[in-house]
Amino acid sequence: MLRIAVMASGSGSNLQAVMDRIEDKSIKNAEIVLVFSNNPDAYALKRAEAAGIRTACISPRSYAKREEFEYAMLELLKSSSPDLIVLAGFLVNIPPEMVKEFCGRIINIHPSLIPSFCGKGYYGLRVHEAALHRGVKISGATVHYVDEGVDSGPIILQKAVEVRKGDTPLTLQKRIMEEAEWILLPQAIAMIAERKAGKQSKEDERGLS
Ligand code: GRF
Repeated sequence: MLRIAVMASGSGSNLQAVMDRIEDKSIKNAEIVLVFSNNPDAYALKRAEAAGIRTACISPRSYAKREEFEYAMLELLKSSSPDLIVLAGFLVNIPPEMVKEFCGRIINIHPSLIPSFCGKGYYGLRVHEAALHRGVKISGATVHYVDEGVDSGPIILQKAVEVRKGDTPLTLQKRIMEEAEWILLPQAIAMIAERKAGKQSKEDERGLS
């Protein structure tokens, strides 16, 4: 079983997509063991609670020093022993200690075709504003591994979405979520879970022979 911790700061529609695909078994051999947020009002927490998933929330505002918050966040994550950490609209920079601790086991969903409209300052509607401002005809979403940089880790999956005449940042955001993000993130997780299950069964076979 792939143990997943999801980190989310907002509405949690990507979290919902992952929960739904685990429920309908499109994602096999995986369970969400923790939903973490930095924002006590994140609707993602409500979605997780409704599904009976463990939630945790700590805000940087409750700590005098940033390092104290980051330490508490890391300890909380470690307490759930995740195999995979999924950043699903998590608006806090992941500290290098955490990248090191979970090396190659953190993934993120970004609402553009990386390397366009990504990196520092490109989050939420700003991504779509920039895409429309540049006049691109195609945008989309990317799932990638997280490294020490911002949106700079190896790409796992991408999906293109058409930009339409008359699009606003909101309409483009909605289409990219519906046509790309909610499909791509569960797909990436399913791939990672299958890989783990495959590895596990090979190890089991070796143990038997
Ligand atoms: C999504 O657009 C995701 O790509 C970005 O943040 C947004 C989160 O939306 N990283 P939601 O909270 O999953 O609804």
